[in-house]
Order: sequence, then C-alpha cells, then structure tokens
Amino acid sequence: MTVRIAVIGGDGIGPEVTEQASRALSAAAGQGLVDLELTEYPHGAEHYLSTGETLSDEAFERLRDDHDAILFGAVGDPRVPGGEHARDLLLGLRFRLDLFINRRPLTLRAPDLSPLKSAGTAPVDFVIYRENTEGLYTGEGTLEGEGTPEERATSVGLATRRGVERIVRAAFDRGVELGVRVTLADKANAVPHMFGLWRRIFAEIADEHPSVESEMRYVDALAMEMVRIPERFGVIVTSNLLGDILSDLGAELVGGPGLAPSANVNPGRHGLYEPVHGSAPDIVGTGRANPFAAVLSAALLLRDQGAVDAASRLEDAVESALAEGVRTPDIGGSATTGEVGAWLAARIAGGK
Ligand code: NAD
Ligand code: IPM
Ligand code: MN
Repeated sequence: MTVRIAVIGGDGIGPEVTEQASRALSAAAGQGLVDLELTEYPHGAEHYLSTGETLSDEAFERLRDDHDAILFGAVGDPRVPGGEHARDLLLGLRFRLDLFINRRPLTLRAPDLSPLKSAGTAPVDFVIYRENTEGLYTGEGTLEGEGTPEERATSVGLATRRGVERIVRAAFDRGVELGVRVTLADKANAVPHMFGLWRRIFAEIADEHPSVESEMRYVDALAMEMVRIPERFGVIVTSNLLGDILSDLGAELVGGPGLAPSANVNPGRHGLYEPVHGSAPDIVGTGRANPFAAVLSAALLLRDQGAVDAASRLEDAVESALAEGVRTPDIGGSATTGEVGAWLAARIAGGK
C-alpha cells in the first residue's frame, strides 16, 4: 500500500527541515521499507501574501481526500504580524480534520542533551497528550470598547464531555499499552468550570482502568516536577493551551526545540506531523536549523501508517547522528541542516 503524504513546508525554517525529513523518508522508501508518494504544497506566508489565500476549500479537500497524512514544517512570518494565515492553516487543519490528539513524545536520546542535574541517571521518556480542538483555541470571544479605558476582552475556554472524554480515553489507552502512569495536568483550583469537568471525566475513566496508575496534578506544581523528577511521568494528558506550554518545557529537557516531534491525529482518519518548534525567523537561511524534530515527526507518521521498520530506521539514524556528533550548533555541533540531512539519508540507505 502506498502512503500518500502531503508536504507543507510553510514558513521560515519549516521548508528547510521538512526538506531533510523528505530526504529521510525517500531514503527509507529507496530501501523498500515503505512505499511513498510525496506531494509538495505551497501554503504559508508567501502564498498568502501573493494570492490572498490561506487554505482554500479546494486545497483543504485535496489534503483531506487525496492524502493519508500531512508532513508539516512550521508557520509564522514577520511579514504577517497578526499571524492570521498561521492560525487558518495550522489550527484550521487541526480543527477541520478534527485531529483531536496532539501527541508529543519527549525522549532523551543522548544523555549530554539533558540540562538537568540528574542527567545520565534519570531517563526522560514521557508523552504529552494535548487536547487539540477545544480549550482556549476556539477563537471564540468578545472585544468591547476597543481603545477606550473600559476596553474588555474575553476568550472562551471550551471543554465538552465528548472532547475531554476522547482525549482522556486515548491517554489511558496509551498508558495501558506502555504500562505507565497517566497524569492529568489541570488548573481546577483557579478555573473550576472547565477543569472541574476534566477532573470528573478523568476520575470516571480512571475507574474503568484499575490496572493503570493515575493521578491529577495542578499544572504549576507539575511543571516543577517535570524538571525535578521527570522520570515519574509516563503519559501526561492536558488541555490545549497547557499542553502547548508544557511541550516546550518538555522539549528543553530532551535537547531543545530541535529534538521534539509531534503527531496531530484522529486515529484511522487523518494525521498531521510536525516539529513542536516554530518557524524560527531568527535563524532562517543560516543552515543552523536542527532537522531532527522534523525527521522524528516523519518517523511518527510512518509508525502510525504501520511502516514500523521504516520508522525505526529513521529514529535509529537520528540516534546514530547524535552519538557520532553529527549535530547542528544548537546542540553543540557544527554541521549544517543540509549536512545532517544528507548524513541521515545515507545512514538510512545503509551507506554509513
Ligand atoms: P520558535 O520555536 O520558532 O523559536 C524559538 C527559539 O528556538 C528560537 O531562538 C529559534 O531559533 C529556536 N529554534 C526553533 N526551532 C529550532 C530548530 N529546529 N533548530 C535550532 N533552533 C531552533 O518560536 P517563536 O520564536 O516563538 O516563534 C516564531 C514563529 O513561529 C511565530 O510566528 C510563531 O507563531 C510560530 N510558531 C509556529 C509553530 C508551528 O508552526 N507549529 C510552533 C511554534 C511557533
Ligand atoms: C504549536 C504552536 C501553535 C500552537 C501555534 C503556532 C498556533 O505553538 O504547535 O505548539 O499554539 O498550537
Ligand atoms: Mn507551541
């Protein structure tokens, strides 16, 4: 079966890192590990500025119907200071494809990448299950009296039983599969309506899974524990905004933005795979962008498509590159984005 992948590089370093991920994918296909069809899409700031279009219905339908998964770079460009194209594209795809699970695995793949005192003794290996279609990301809200002293803005934080149940269930399923603790990160002490619902549903689903250890933690205390005792976490399930913040904190525990991949999925229906990091306008065009997060995102895509051997080959190549010092400057190396990508492709093809 051919896996039909749409590649949207997007803005800034997005196209630089997805280019390397595409090379890695093609190298795995060249080894007969998977059958792939890659199609590039031009969406991003440049496309928006020249056509006025963020994502047309026609393009959306092609992405939805003609592809099994999307490999995404990043969006965000200083020429679009309001970021409206980025919201339309990325949040648009997450919402319109109903990709309710944002899975963000955080694995320390080389001990020297850890910023922690416990580096080398405490493994960091947990996954954040971020709710991806509700919370404070719905765009609903009000703005009154703009520019006046009485100006007042609200942003709706949405939690529905259906929305919370399906992400918490997915997190428990993962906890069962891995045999690890499931932790809810919330802020029910200060935001009782929304997170009260989360707590009730989490408790109900925990009761259905007596074999899984589970706990509810306030996100502020949990953030401290993520740094102090990261080894205690297995699956962390949380809301959209809290998951966004925790996943950047988590990325720092495993080597920074260049090491954190993610999968936005609706299992069995569609998936969008992207690094956790953004478009990094400060380093665009310098060859300093670390492509590992994009390559690891491509590995998540392959794994979800059932191409497990191909996925492992990509992950092993990243680990070998780390071990052999084939690294970009953010993690102590001197290789360029393209040099790392070329090395990975050669490794995957069995030439190194
Ligand atoms: P960012 O993640 O783009 O950059 C933060 C810092 O990390 C920068 O110093 C950057 O140089 C560094 N960095 C990020 N990725 C790196 C990589 N692969 N290799 C080496 N260094 C890397 O976050 P930001 O600066 O807050 O945002 C820039 C733009 O990206 C904004 O427009 C933002 O909205 C957007 N953004 C997009 C996504 C996405 O598309 N998923 C995610 C986050 C931010
Ligand atoms: C991420 C990003 C996005 C988010 C932005 C670009 C809207 O930060 O994927 O983590 O907040 O979800
Ligand atoms: Mn983010």
